[in-house]
Amino acid sequence: MPPTIADLSWPVSTERLSLRPAEPRDALPTYAFRSRPDVSEWITTHETDPDAWEARFAERLTNTLVIEVDGKVIGDLFLQVQDPWSQTEVRAQAAGTLAEVGYVLDPTYNGQGYATEAVREVLRICFEGLGVRRVIAQCFAANEASWRLMERVGMRREQHARKDSLHRNGQWLDGMMYALLDEEWRAAVRRSSRGAGGRP
Ligand SMILES: CC(C)(COP(=O)(O)OP(=O)(O)OC[C@H]1O[C@@H](n2cnc3c(N)ncnc32)[C@H](O)[C@@H]1OP(=O)(O)O)[C@@H](O)C(=O)NCCC(=O)NCCS
Repeated sequence: MPPTIADLSWPVSTERLSLRPAEPRDALPTYAFRSRPDVSEWITTHETDPDAWEARFAERLTNTLVIEVDGKVIGDLFLQVQDPWSQTEVRAQAAGTLAEVGYVLDPTYNGQGYATEAVREVLRICFEGLGVRRVIAQCFAANEASWRLMERVGMRREQHARKDSLHRNGQWLDGMMYALLDEEWRAAVRRSSRGAGGRP
């Protein structure tokens, strides 16, 4: 069986951040920023009820990491390993080789590269820790901060779909999908370790 998030060693530290699987006690700190209109504008649900969020949060603990700075939760990450499409005869071989990631940062901490640093680490966790072969992320095309982040971490825009996603404002908006393959990530890590920079 391939490793799962629970099999990995936590917390994981980056230069400035600590990442760990979410726990029930993280419901209220994440509610604090997810309920903000400038955050919920771009995410699936506009949270207005802390109890409802607490219940839903409990169901998604296995796919959620939190981002901490000095012990304070400043963001959360979605990380879900999935089975990509495959033909029937090779379904077992394809199982668990795709990961989808998502990210939400407390706006108080925007503009300092924290989300970039966290997502870079999540890519490493996906490829090195979980052994997936492809990572994807999706956003509204109008969510420029989100797709700029994906480009900063080296992901490739693979889809710009016309008006495929319904925003709660009633408008059908364009959607984007970005992806990165294991071999591309490894090549970028090799390139950056030869140069002066850090990880891709
Ligand atoms: C998407 C989101 C996480 C991006 O946040 P962000 O603050 O732009 O991202 P980062 O924390 O990586 O910071 C990057 C910014 O800091 C700057 N920066 C400063 N120091 C930096 C560093 N050490 N490394 C990288 N960037 C740095 C970058 O230049 C960039 O600014 P720019 O966009 O003006 O060029 C945030 O806008 C958010 O949570 N939005 C609401 C929820 C959401 O949309 N989630 C995604 C749904 S698809």
